[in-house]
Amino acid sequence: ADGPRERMKSAHEIAAKLYYHVLTLTEQGADGRNYVKERGFTREQIERFQIGFAPDRWDSLTTILSKRQYSLDLMVEAGLVGERESKDGYFDRFRNRLMFPIWDGQGRVIAFGGRTISDEKPKYLNSADTPIFHKGQTLYGLHLARPSIRKEGTVILFEGYIDVIAAWGAGFSNAIATLGTALTEEQAKIIRRNAETVTICYDSDQAGINAAFKSANILEQAGCVIKIADMPEGLDPDDYIRTYGANRFKSDVIGASLTFMSFKMRYLRRGKNLANESERMRYIEEVLSEISSLPRAVERDHYLRQIADEFSLSLEALKQEQYQIYRANR
Ligand code: GTP
Ligand code: MN
Ligand code: MN
Ligand code: MN
Ligand code: MN
Repeated sequence: ADGPRERMKSAHEIAAKLYYHVLTLTEQGADGRNYVKERGFTREQIERFQIGFAPDRWDSLTTILSKRQYSLDLMVEAGLVGERESKDGYFDRFRNRLMFPIWDGQGRVIAFGGRTISDEKPKYLNSADTPIFHKGQTLYGLHLARPSIRKEGTVILFEGYIDVIAAWGAGFSNAIATLGTALTEEQAKIIRRNAETVTICYDSDQAGINAAFKSANILEQAGCVIKIADMPEGLDPDDYIRTYGANRFKSDVIGASLTFMSFKMRYLRRGKNLANESERMRYIEEVLSEISSLPRAVERDHYLRQIADEFSLSLEALKQEQYQIYRANR
């Protein structure tokens, strides 16, 4: 007989089939269908990502799994079912939510992300870690994206499931996402095993910019070459694609990606008035400190020249100063 881990995975597969069936074919899925229509998901997107809808009922999944001889304990341990605090009953954990199956590297369903279709909190209810699901070691969409990641040698990393799905609709098959938490070292290693170059394409709010900075550092440690997409303030990738279309996303966001150093320079500039001498000097100091950590001389030279040009400074003086910072930080 199958062990409990295999049973948990097959229970997830049954759940995914139920949710997909409800969304695509049933009366109970009408609100979900309205929601996906409003958000502009196509048939193809729904099918490829097996998007579904959890009915607004307490026992849809619990009943189906019970009929198939899954124990309630196993359903609870797998995170699909909750036990009432009074211990006198069980309930479907995901209700009235748009459901995104989360797969392991082999394409088995091991967890779900569930988005509310109203303004209920939390916006996303994601599976907690279980014996078969470890958030920090899983990347959304990886098994689907792997063939194109390998072929192109590059991957695009997003914050949200919906961004991955929108990117695929815009022609990017090499898209993956973290699962609502900060990128981990394990995830970075998994990414590096599949591709050398990573384009980070996070939301452009302050949280997203800070997260991009952290993820870039972790990915660099893991040996990846980093690019950072040029997402305009206030939008996320899905918003952008919906507003401006696939072509502009390709040329103006992914195509205009910054190097990590250019991203750092832009980041350090934020909130500084560079017409003010002391703020300008502080900016230059900070950039020189970043330049000092670049391993390659040609790269250091490139950015030193850029700073020299921009602020009409002598390259010699900048080089000396950068070298002093390098010595001091060693
Ligand atoms: P939409 O708002 O539907 O467009 O989704 P989004 O992908 O833009 O969501 P957002 O940028 O807010 O969040 C990105 C990712 O963070 C989501 O895919 C989730 O994994 C996670 N996330 C967002 N909100 C919550 C939440 O309330 N709880 C949890 N646990 N995770 C969340
Ligand atoms: Mn484990
Ligand atoms: Mn966000
Ligand atoms: Mn977002
Ligand atoms: Mn969004």
